[in-house]
Amino acid sequence: MIANIPTRIQPTDTPEQFNAAVLEAARRLRRGELVAVPTETVYGLAANALDAEAVSRIYEAKDRPAHNPIIVHVAGLEMARQCAADWPRLAEDLAAAFWPGPLTLVLSRAPIIPELVTAGGPTVGVRWPNHPFMQALIQACGVPLAAPSANLSGRVSPTTAAHVAKEFLGRIPLIIDAGPCPVGIESTVIDLTVSPPRLLRPGMIHVESLLAVTKGLLLGFGDSEEILRSPGRLPRHYSPRARLVILSWQDENDLRAQLARLPAAVGRVHVIAHHRIPAGLAGVRVSLIPHDPEAFARALYAELHRCDEEGAVWIVVETVPDAPEWHAIADRLRRAAAP
Ligand code: TXA
Ligand code: MG
Repeated sequence: MIANIPTRIQPTDTPEQFNAAVLEAARRLRRGELVAVPTETVYGLAANALDAEAVSRIYEAKDRPAHNPIIVHVAGLEMARQCAADWPRLAEDLAAAFWPGPLTLVLSRAPIIPELVTAGGPTVGVRWPNHPFMQALIQACGVPLAAPSANLSGRVSPTTAAHVAKEFLGRIPLIIDAGPCPVGIESTVIDLTVSPPRLLRPGMIHVESLLAVTKGLLLGFGDSEEILRSPGRLPRHYSPRARLVILSWQDENDLRAQLARLPAAVGRVHVIAHHRIPAGLAGVRVSLIPHDPEAFARALYAELHRCDEEGAVWIVVETVPDAPEWHAIADRLRRAAAP
């Protein structure tokens, strides 16, 4: 574990700050150091993807299991193709439709990608992120950047620089602050090395949108074997410290009765609601996220981080609708709630 190194948190608010941050981040990445960077989904913990020693520092800093492969971020189609041994027609079509954006394509690994990045496997996850800082940084580095979410393994992903700092202050040299991430949950991951292609992790680019491009040639979740290939699919993941339950209620009395039945419901309870907003529950903090999937995704992780900071013992999240645009949110909530 790397400990007690000075961590700089560098702003990007003005053009001058933005350019200085790009230069500083690129300088450190070229030296094999780790830099926490903003993307449109969540903050990432980046290293030069072509430098196995640098990538090994990601596993160490995150306490990440060695069997969990890391997504490679590119800035452009040419760089994406260089990471893959094979560039199928479907990759071309999906990239044309959704890149740059929150979609990761799993492809067969090109020899330039170190095996450490792919956890020894034959495939590599590639994503062209739609964030101005990340794009400028990858271009400045001239190499793809390996970056998992910038959280300790299994915990809630960070959507602000402050979330990253909570876990990595003193452990990495540089955190770039570009404000809150506009998407707020991790990218959709789709495996194009199997036929038919398979959805490994739902994201805000949802199945209906993918189907429009893949022309019905999809998908279904994998079987248990797949779990090892993509640990983001492990039942418990994306977890706050507090216990999380997903409930639905008719009205405030109904919710009060359900809260009373929570095992050992002592200590702070924090309710996250979007539809039936309780007003007067004693000793319970209620926060409201708009009933809109994009807004909900953008706000969710910040709420979970805040619950942990405030020492919540239980987090109660109101059930979300069973509709394609809510599926990724439902997936993350289910994993966060898993015992
Ligand atoms: O939005 C995102 O994808 C963020 C930002 C930083 O880009 N990254 C991210 O990385 O969420 P991470 O490592 O926290 O989650 C990546 C997921 C993991 O579940 C991993 O197992 C899976 O993608 N993955 C990566 N490469 C893979 C591969 N070659 N085959 C199967 N799954 C892969
Ligand atoms: Mg992650």
